[in-house]
Amino acid sequence: MDHNQLYHAIFRRKSVRRYNPSPLDEKDLMEIENLLGKLEPLYPEIKTKFKVVSTEMIKTRMMKKAPHYLLAFSEKKEGYLENVGFMLQQMDLYLSQWGFGTCWQGIPKPRKEVLESSFLNYVILLTMGKPQEALHRDITEFKRKNIEGITDLSDGLGLLEPVRLAPSSTNSQPWYFTGDNRLIHAYCRKSNALKAILVKKFNQIDLGIALYHLKLAADHQGKSVEFTVNNEAENNPPDGYYYVMSVKVNS
Ligand SMILES: Cc1cc2nc3c(=O)[nH]c(=O)nc-3n(C[C@H](O)[C@H](O)[C@H](O)COP(=O)(O)O)c2cc1C
Repeated sequence: MDHNQLYHAIFRRKSVRRYNPSPLDEKDLMEIENLLGKLEPLYPEIKTKFKVVSTEMIKTRMMKKAPHYLLAFSEKKEGYLENVGFMLQQMDLYLSQWGFGTCWQGIPKPRKEVLESSFLNYVILLTMGKPQEALHRDITEFKRKNIEGITDLSDGLGLLEPVRLAPSSTNSQPWYFTGDNRLIHAYCRKSNALKAILVKKFNQIDLGIALYHLKLAADHQGKSVEFTVNNEAENNPPDGYYYVMSVKVNS
């Protein structure tokens, strides 16, 4: 995948929920399968599997149908949700740049035979197909918190602006970033006990998505990143947030 193209997708991608029901061409589906084997993980040691299935394999549960569904399966290990967010966001950006619509969806569920087709656990899916609504949007059309709502950093390097634009479940944008331009600490908002049961899983996926945008932003500036744990940051979260991980930005 061309990182530069993925980076530019950040500033115009949007969720697509209305699709042309006709399937993608066989050769495009093969290209997608090929890319699924090349996704970059956040945690290489966690086993994952990505699979494309068609509508009849999915209980759509009130969501509009899509011709294809890109399913993520994973081993359940510490960080697996962030890992899936990080990996599948690469497809979200890639497909958007390529001209196909996608939407992260937690509500639909694969049918039993699909769930049982892998020894790994089903995590989440992306809908996928030819869009029957606008595929892209202008930067002014993003509905997001302003930069002060997600960080106390001055973001002099512009690394967090692409993170600000990342998609999240119910557009909750549960992330917060502190530190400095060379070591950025990522936190996730805590939910009250009842809500936490429903949203914690999705919020961890959201953080993985945001961390991928951060990595792409660094790549774009010719910098590399290392994902790490910082004990001081872990022990000093901002009020109402829990620690996720830290990102070392190397020039
Ligand atoms: C983990 C996750 C789960 C989501 N689940 C749903 C869903 O079940 N149904 C839906 O219509 N949109 C779902 N979304 C899409 C979000 O609502 C959408 O990304 C957010 O409102 C921001 O809009 P944008 O993607 O157009 O930037 C989900 C997004 C994420 C990241």
